[in-house]
Amino acid sequence: MAGRLEGKVAIVTGAGSGIGCASAELFAAEGAEVVCADISGDEEKTAAAIGAAAVALHVDVSVEAEVEGMVAMAQDRFGGLDILLNNAGIGGPKRLVTEQTEEAFDLVLGVNLKGVFFGMKHGIPVMLRTGGGSVINTASAAGLVGWRKNALYGASKGGVIQMTKAVALDYADQGVRVNAVCPGMTWTGLVPDAEQHPEPPADAVMPHQPMKRWGLSSELAAAALFLASDESSFVTGVALPVDGGYVC
Ligand code: NAI
Repeated sequence: MAGRLEGKVAIVTGAGSGIGCASAELFAAEGAEVVCADISGDEEKTAAAIGAAAVALHVDVSVEAEVEGMVAMAQDRFGGLDILLNNAGIGGPKRLVTEQTEEAFDLVLGVNLKGVFFGMKHGIPVMLRTGGGSVINTASAAGLVGWRKNALYGASKGGVIQMTKAVALDYADQGVRVNAVCPGMTWTGLVPDAEQHPEPPADAVMPHQPMKRWGLSSELAAAALFLASDESSFVTGVALPVDGGYVC
């Protein structure tokens, strides 16, 4: 049976770990050719695990020229761009707003918001030339509700959601769909304990979560696959919570 992304070309940023790694692997398993982009160097492991259908690219998404180069690589290597998962992100320092610095603001907004802007700015024109495509931006439940000591992160993710909606409207009648996924607490490299424990420990219950557990990268990848594939062909401009009911 043909995969759900057969013949598609995808870029996944933040593909070196967590949600991005799981998404790149799932996209490839569903038939896509994937540019695995990250700043960490771990994108090479993800691409190697996928094999011939993937290429690794060292990219800082907060630098416009590097994002432009990333899109050019997808075209040169695989002949176009159908799916862009703007997923790279950082948590930034968790402090009261009075204790935050301009440097932290520029860093968090630079990666989480400007990186998504650059991805869409350079990716969408290629999609338009080749018959359309699907953009998925990884926002956060923290873009939908407030999280304590997360003013900068919340601002960046709220910005991603509003940018997603505006851009979705701009291209809705031109074959480019633009959606966001809003993860709740997900067991990835963003979680301090995750390096020691690749899976959430049995005692890592989350009493304030309606499902009382962590989300998994695979569950976020499944949502990204839905939005990337033609199964969501009438869906644009949504910010989909994948959060065990957290923002209900
Ligand atoms: P992760 O830390 O495992 O993966 C993030 C990846 O982004 C890393 O591989 C990192 O090297 C890469 N990255 C960071 N800065 C970059 C840059 N300037 N250029 C290119 N790549 C860069 O974390 P996770 O959880 O997989 O994060 C993926 C997305 O999900 C992020 O946007 C994050 O904000 C979002 N998210 C995660 C949640 C969680 O609980 N894990 C909750 C809500 C949102």
